[in-house]
Amino acid sequence: MCGVIGYVGAGASPSFFLNALRRLEYRGYDSAGIAMLTADGVAIQRAEGKLSQLERKLDQLPAKAKVGIGHTRWATHGKPTENNAHPHRSGPIVLLHNGIIENYRQLKERLVARGYQFLSETDTEVAAHLLHDEYKKLTSGTPEARMRSALRSVVGQLKGAFAFGILCLDTPEVLYSAKLGSPLVVGQAEGETFMASGITALVEHTRQFMVVEDHEIVVLKPESVEIETFDGQPVTRPFQRVEWSVAMMEKGGYRHFMLKEIHEHPIAIAQTLNGRVQRDSGTINLTDLGVAKLPLKTLSRLQIIACGTSYYAACLSKYFIEATARIPVEVDLASEYRYRASTVDSKTLVVAVSQSGETADTLQAIKAARANGAQTLAVVNVPGSTIAHMCHAESLTKAGPEIGVASTKAFAAQLTALYLLGLALAQERQSLNDAQLRFYVDELVKIPSLVERSLGLSDSIERLANRYHHLSSLLFIGRGPQWPIALEGSLKLKELSYIHAEAYAAGELKHGPIALIDENMHVVCLAPRDAYYEKTLSNIEEIKARGGRILAVGQENDSQLLQLADDFIGIPECSETVLPFVTAVPLHLLAYWIAVRKGTDVDQPRNLAKSVTVE
Ligand code: F6R
Repeated sequence: MCGVIGYVGAGASPSFFLNALRRLEYRGYDSAGIAMLTADGVAIQRAEGKLSQLERKLDQLPAKAKVGIGHTRWATHGKPTENNAHPHRSGPIVLLHNGIIENYRQLKERLVARGYQFLSETDTEVAAHLLHDEYKKLTSGTPEARMRSALRSVVGQLKGAFAFGILCLDTPEVLYSAKLGSPLVVGQAEGETFMASGITALVEHTRQFMVVEDHEIVVLKPESVEIETFDGQPVTRPFQRVEWSVAMMEKGGYRHFMLKEIHEHPIAIAQTLNGRVQRDSGTINLTDLGVAKLPLKTLSRLQIIACGTSYYAACLSKYFIEATARIPVEVDLASEYRYRASTVDSKTLVVAVSQSGETADTLQAIKAARANGAQTLAVVNVPGSTIAHMCHAESLTKAGPEIGVASTKAFAAQLTALYLLGLALAQERQSLNDAQLRFYVDELVKIPSLVERSLGLSDSIERLANRYHHLSSLLFIGRGPQWPIALEGSLKLKELSYIHAEAYAAGELKHGPIALIDENMHVVCLAPRDAYYEKTLSNIEEIKARGGRILAVGQENDSQLLQLADDFIGIPECSETVLPFVTAVPLHLLAYWIAVRKGTDVDQPRNLAKSVTVE
């Protein structure tokens, strides 16, 4: 989805803006633009397509500017053309926007009647003209005071979601923004301030960040950041230090971010465990996990809401949490949860799981749960994200920045955090005795090294991909916790390689999908030695009997499975608790290598965005 950046300070070059936009590329976009304000006026360059197209125009921008804004656009209203790319200008106002203005048609009619000419098909241009119109109406006060007042009036007239970046030629050292529903952070360094859709854009320049909340207007100057509410009340909020580094956002010698991030599964798990499991006592540190202030003892049930890969992590955690904490767990797609008549009360803990912490479906669902009186917990990866702000408590997954659009290491970290939540509940509710709790703590601690061994499969899976990249369809099956892993494997394959893939609980095969099986159907069968092993083997036999081709994932010494399979991925021996973490890795690698073999854009698959801020 769109990305915005802004700068005010001693001077930034065109490549500053381009590089900051590059850090937001992962969000997904199809055109881009930059505006730089100097004593000679404003220079705007925009381009259709990738940032390399905009880069060709950088020499037409001034060498330095004290104020500037940049944008990557993910088209919603109007095609991804140069003309529709942001920023848009109206008189002295230059404006760009992440979000959607829902009432733009009504506003446009009014503005056309007042003589404004529209040059693009976007909803955003309405905001530029509207702000200009309100600014023009004000005849007294300094230009900055008029801008603030005009902006307050504009945000009161807009319906939808927005995070703006705004320049005004009459206030050459000020940058304005307003936020409702779309993410926005501001950063501060010596004599410079910044704004952006996410901290990744700015980590190179500062570690001091502040999250802007909904219904807030921000005024940035080189030495100050002023925030006020839409109705003009000043807001004070301290800056927070974020420990993300530039190195974390580079490829580190890997061919793609995705491959690097798959290789970061172990560290993502280890960092998420760090400080939260106390090995000596065999207990969970509730404060470090971020759940100490929740009424864990008196809860009657959990509802976990999420989308996509985060939803599959949630589905998987249900097995573990119910088994350990002995509490009912419902798992819902956030996009559905919001519209069903879910009954919640103060004894329900609604857990929102989201890598980005910005997903609109999850955000709206958690808002609804909170409004209905539920306790809420955010399990998010991006510190200070909107979902985290919205919940009673926040449990950070510590995967570090995830740049590849398809989620990989964040999945492992989410699973870890949710397993920890299960153990925290078990500890507080005494559903496990001390020895049992210690057993699970010890099991979790083993995960990073077992997952590390699973990564050793990369070369053999790369070779295997040569036999799978030409297929037009694949089926994935698994039972128990391996079913969500099958769902995750099939999602990864389709989004990266554009090969059709479906996943079923293996027990469901006979209820319909078995009709698909013939000698052309390849089935990825997750069959590690767990409580469901024998039953899954029977399903594999059923597939074989109908001519289907088997790619089995099971323990490396499983000769029985090896014999049944046409292809075999052998994972290290491990306990049932650890298994899902270990089987996720080869499926992420399989999707990755098949996509590489097909030559698709692995880090930025078509039509997808990292941060899905529309419903
Ligand atoms: C798949 C993927 C998506 C996200 C989904 C939710 O690889 O990345 O399915 O998992 O869009 O995003 P978050 O976790 O940011 O809420």
